[in-house]
Amino acid sequence: MSYTVTLLPGDGIGPEVTAAARTVIEATGFTIDWDVQEAGGDVIEKYGTALPEPALDSIRRNGVALKGPITTPVGKGFSSVNVKLRKELKLYANYRPAKTMPGVKSRYDNVDLIVIRENTEGLYSGLEHEVIPGVIESLRVITYEASERIVRFAFETARQYGRKKVTVVHKANILKLSDGLFLDVARVVAKDYHEIELEEYIVDATAMRLVMRPESFDVLVMENLFGDIISDLTSGLVGGLGVAPSANIGTHCAVFEAVHGSAPDIAGQGIANPTALILSGALMLRHLRQLEAAANIEHAVHTVLAEGKTITGDLGGNATTSEYAAAVAAVVERL
Ligand code: NAI
Ligand code: MG
Repeated sequence: MSYTVTLLPGDGIGPEVTAAARTVIEATGFTIDWDVQEAGGDVIEKYGTALPEPALDSIRRNGVALKGPITTPVGKGFSSVNVKLRKELKLYANYRPAKTMPGVKSRYDNVDLIVIRENTEGLYSGLEHEVIPGVIESLRVITYEASERIVRFAFETARQYGRKKVTVVHKANILKLSDGLFLDVARVVAKDYHEIELEEYIVDATAMRLVMRPESFDVLVMENLFGDIISDLTSGLVGGLGVAPSANIGTHCAVFEAVHGSAPDIAGQGIANPTALILSGALMLRHLRQLEAAANIEHAVHTVLAEGKTITGDLGGNATTSEYAAAVAAVVERL
């Protein structure tokens, strides 16, 4: 069986890292028909937007996309393509695993956790206004429905991957109504998952414990802004931007992408590290139930990084993007 998947090469280093991910995914032998769609800074003149309707339609049609980074131009009138994509496709869950990898420099050798961030509300509801000059209000919206959906997603994820614990990260001691609701919902949902422990932890204390004892976490779930901040922190625990994959998941569509941006400072030089997007490709294959292909890609990435012979400049090597991708693909083909 083959699948049609939307491919958005994006801009900046996007085309380079998506080509690399494609090479590695194709090495698994699983056939994908790539529906390549234009998006990004280079198409604004042509379409009047960085996220043209044909690209959105393609994702709606195929249900799955692999996406390169897209530059958000600085200045008024340009809203973030990434925020628009999440809104248009109702991608309510942001999924960011952080796992220690051999050969990638970091302060820890035993991190293996997943951050799940609510992607649609909280302070990102876009409800801001000036009350009187000099006083601005931003509304932090928390609803039962979205909280239930994201907490359930976290427990389902934990169950699917045999995880033992879900930590609900909150600030209900101060935000008694909003985070109080989030916490209440979590307690209700947890009753449906007897085999998984529910842990409640305050967000600031979570930040400290993540740095001191990251191995004590398993799956973490939280509202939008907490998730934005905490998930960058957890990327930093395991080696940073070049190696951090992610997924944005909704009821009908899922978009897989690296955490990093378009890296204009190194774009076009063929030296970007494609690991993050390659690992996002593995998450995508798992979503498509191609469990063996996904595991093979992860294994191959770990193997090449651990050998340390063919790695990109950000990790201390001197391989190009395509040399590294070829090395990973070669290991995949042997598996
Ligand atoms: P960035 O992640 O593009 O770059 C930050 C630093 O990390 C740069 O020095 C860059 O060279 C390095 N870097 C990033 N990815 C790398 C990789 N794969 N290999 C080697 N080095 C890498 O963040 P920045 O500069 O803040 O954003 C640039 C543009 O990307 C902005 O327009 C931003 O809006 C956009 N962006 C897009 C995202 C997306 O499409 N999902 C996510 C984040 C930013
Ligand atoms: Mg962020």
